[in-house]
Amino acid sequence: MQSVIAKQLTLFDTETSEFDSTNWCVNQFSADLLCAENARQNLEKKYLPITEVTSDFNRQSVSYQLSKNNRLHRWLKYKEGFSADLVEQLMDEMNIGRGSTVLDPFLGSGTTALVAQMRGINSIGFDILPMSEIAIYAKTKVALYNISELKNFVSFVSMLNRPIEYKKRVNTINVTNGAYSEETECDIPYFTEMIKGSEFSQEAKGLGLLCLLNSLERVSYTAKDGQYLRWDERSTKVIEATRSRLATGRKPFKVILNKGELPTLKKAILEQLNQAIEDISYLQRSSPLPSNDTSVDFKQSSSLIELPLLPENSIDGVITSPPYCNRYDYTRIYALELAYLGMGENEIRKTRQNLLSCTVESKTKLDYLQSYYNTIGSTDSYNSVLSIIKNNAALNEILVALEIRNQRGDINNKGVIPMVKGYFEELAFIYYELFRVCKKGAKVAFVNDNVRYAGEVISVDFLSTELAEQIGFTPIKVYTLKQQKGNSSQQMAKFGRVALRKSITIWEK
Ligand SMILES: C[S@@+](CC[C@H](N)C(=O)[O-])C[C@H]1O[C@@H](n2cnc3c(N)ncnc32)[C@H](O)[C@@H]1O
Repeated sequence: MQSVIAKQLTLFDTETSEFDSTNWCVNQFSADLLCAENARQNLEKKYLPITEVTSDFNRQSVSYQLSKNNRLHRWLKYKEGFSADLVEQLMDEMNIGRGSTVLDPFLGSGTTALVAQMRGINSIGFDILPMSEIAIYAKTKVALYNISELKNFVSFVSMLNRPIEYKKRVNTINVTNGAYSEETECDIPYFTEMIKGSEFSQEAKGLGLLCLLNSLERVSYTAKDGQYLRWDERSTKVIEATRSRLATGRKPFKVILNKGELPTLKKAILEQLNQAIEDISYLQRSSPLPSNDTSVDFKQSSSLIELPLLPENSIDGVITSPPYCNRYDYTRIYALELAYLGMGENEIRKTRQNLLSCTVESKTKLDYLQSYYNTIGSTDSYNSVLSIIKNNAALNEILVALEIRNQRGDINNKGVIPMVKGYFEELAFIYYELFRVCKKGAKVAFVNDNVRYAGEVISVDFLSTELAEQIGFTPIKVYTLKQQKGNSSQQMAKFGRVALRKSITIWEK
């Protein structure tokens, strides 16, 4: 068997891990065979025949990596995004042509909508985070920007100098306290006000605000790093924490970040703007630009709320990637951006709870969904989904196995079990609504990662495919990437190594 060194595949990790590239089929689901695994084995047998290990899609295309060099998609650094290339490939494969309507219920930075727009395909998208709206607004205007106006806008920004008496500070929350120098804390609201209040077109102002939003991490003492927001040693947070550790006889933190000289906000915005102008000129010269009759509908809201309101049989295809079941807390990673956009602690807590259950703080949404479905007159739908969830053997097996692991002390956070439970419950509602809104023959593509908790493997790809099939979809294909994902070092040390698939599941109505 061939062994390869491969980078970990998760969208969020950069750790290197070694594993057997041919071992993409899981043969042991419960480490040391502690818990029952029949249902998961059956699931594996059921969907192996439609599984294809492919090099058509790779870790670059299913992640943000390719977007870093994409002239449009790089305007917002959104590491959780997939690439425009992936969406292009899927649209070809799914036969989504000009004039049809594609849906992405977890739109993020807008990749699906933007590729659709370029191809004359209408799109509908939802996302719970407010950054999406700003990114999508600025990106969809690519054909409309007036380059000479944008150059004037650059001159305007370069002339801005915050008056000494201007004392407003950017909104902060606990997590973001001390994230900026004092100068930058005041510059952020000042530049925002100046851009918003200027006489330039809405498009130019929208682009300016996206450039500002995308500069926040750069000008801060923080760095997004996998699941964490890391802090520069010069930040007050690290200085105070180090002081208190030393005072109580503890060692100072080991991993200390130093981002080097930080640019001023003005410098960062201008760099972003100049790059965007270069991209826009290039795109306006060389690409077929979106036609005016293509619609891009975006709403900042939860898909659990919005999908039930879409008309049935109205969608020609779905291309999406939900949050993964990996404890990743978007509200923490994007705390700088959310605070800047005016969110306070309560609103952030509420947003975290409204995310598809993917954090250890997620609480069940079943009661809420029940009353929502009652209100919209869809009680039967609620009951149907609930019965599918309750009767799914693999899901039940996973939840029992996690309880057993928990009793043995193998699970280091009690939030893992409600997260896994909630994750599949909510996805089942999403799959149900997607089936309802899709036209007959429409295909649905989901990019997702398999996960493992306390030695228990959860095949998100196959379990999702089974739930989708029980709802009415026909499973067509499970593409799995050649490079598999490794496990966290704790799990590896305790439970050994199991390769985890990263897959694109394709279903048809
Ligand atoms: C993996 S990312 C999608 C990235 C996207 N494919 C792109 O290319 O930028 C998942 C997205 O789901 C969003 N999300 C999480 N829970 C949601 C919900 N209940 N409704 C709508 N969006 C949600 C997150 O904010 C995040 O942007």
